[in-house]
Amino acid sequence: MTTRLLKASPEAYAEGARLINAGEVVAFPTETVYGLGAHALNPDAVAKIFAAKGRPGDNPLIVHISRYEQIYGIISGDVPRQAELLAKEYWPGPMTMILPKGEKIPPCVTAGLDSVGVRLPASQAARDFISACAAPVAAPSANLSGKPSPTTAVHVLNDMNGRIPLIIDGGESDVGLESTVIDARSMPVRVLRPGGVTPQMIARVLGEVLVDGSVLRPLAKHETARSPGMKYKHYAPDGSLVIVKGTADAAAREINALYDNTEGSRCILAFEEHIPLYGERRVFSLGEDAQTASHRLFDALRQMDEMHINAIFSEAVPAEGLGLALMNRLGRAAAFHIIEV
Ligand code: TXA
Ligand code: MG
Repeated sequence: MTTRLLKASPEAYAEGARLINAGEVVAFPTETVYGLGAHALNPDAVAKIFAAKGRPGDNPLIVHISRYEQIYGIISGDVPRQAELLAKEYWPGPMTMILPKGEKIPPCVTAGLDSVGVRLPASQAARDFISACAAPVAAPSANLSGKPSPTTAVHVLNDMNGRIPLIIDGGESDVGLESTVIDARSMPVRVLRPGGVTPQMIARVLGEVLVDGSVLRPLAKHETARSPGMKYKHYAPDGSLVIVKGTADAAAREINALYDNTEGSRCILAFEEHIPLYGERRVFSLGEDAQTASHRLFDALRQMDEMHINAIFSEAVPAEGLGLALMNRLGRAAAFHIIEV
């Protein structure tokens, strides 16, 4: 199969919609990361997503919609009050809510669970594409299983070339990390995966919020994952990754010592203002704050693999606000190997 790349445009959405309604898989941009979409009510099309990604069949997909009212075809019963309040505040946006599954959604979408993840993305290109499909679109991130989520069309092409017929190119993803996944079936709601909609933002609307314990540490042997995605070994770069936590000076001293004592191809992930602390060593900049770091992280990790880096040393951020999502992804990429200084 040849994979075509089309710049986001009404013509590209129409061509994407034609393919989706013919049971094919199409990659499309969203504000978080690129998605690999199929018609959510067509089990044969959904099966092609799992095949293209190499994704285990017991990891459920998120169903994407282009307007709020579409949710009634996807969940069962009324929208619970807490979900309605969150939707009013943060949809369209980087938030996925887990709700009771409606009968029309085939079991392969939710990996047999009786719940379904729903998201109304903020990206105009994503909504225009879904709206052209005139159907809910099931989509995981558009990477091969075991790779970081794609934040550009080129990342998607690198992973999916020859596996899917079309990639809609909407430029760089704005947020750069996947959506916040919230179990919104009952109060208090629970964050299963942190993202652009932070626990503070949720608490501001609902008064309270739980954050799943697996967000900042590995699952213990006896624990079952509330979100199936949590139990899989997440993306880890080819090189070893160590996170160093502490004041800027102390962290830089430790990172420099680790770097100098390591053989081979090494690099450092650091915030722009700290770069002078690392002298002539190879540094990838995380930019100014958690927001720029989230935007750049997956691209930096892909570049490091291409460069065959064998050891990566990273600064940390406080696990607050968007920093929680950043430390979750960075922590999982490092298998939670964190040194405190
Ligand atoms: O930002 C995003 O969420 C992107 C874009 C494309 O929307 N999508 C994405 O999908 O990251 P994926 O499949 O890579 O991650 C979805 C996560 C997985 O960890 C999955 O286990 C969890 O959401 N999930 C989906 N449905 C669920 C359900 N019914 N119950 C619990 N967890 C669920
Ligand atoms: Mg994914």
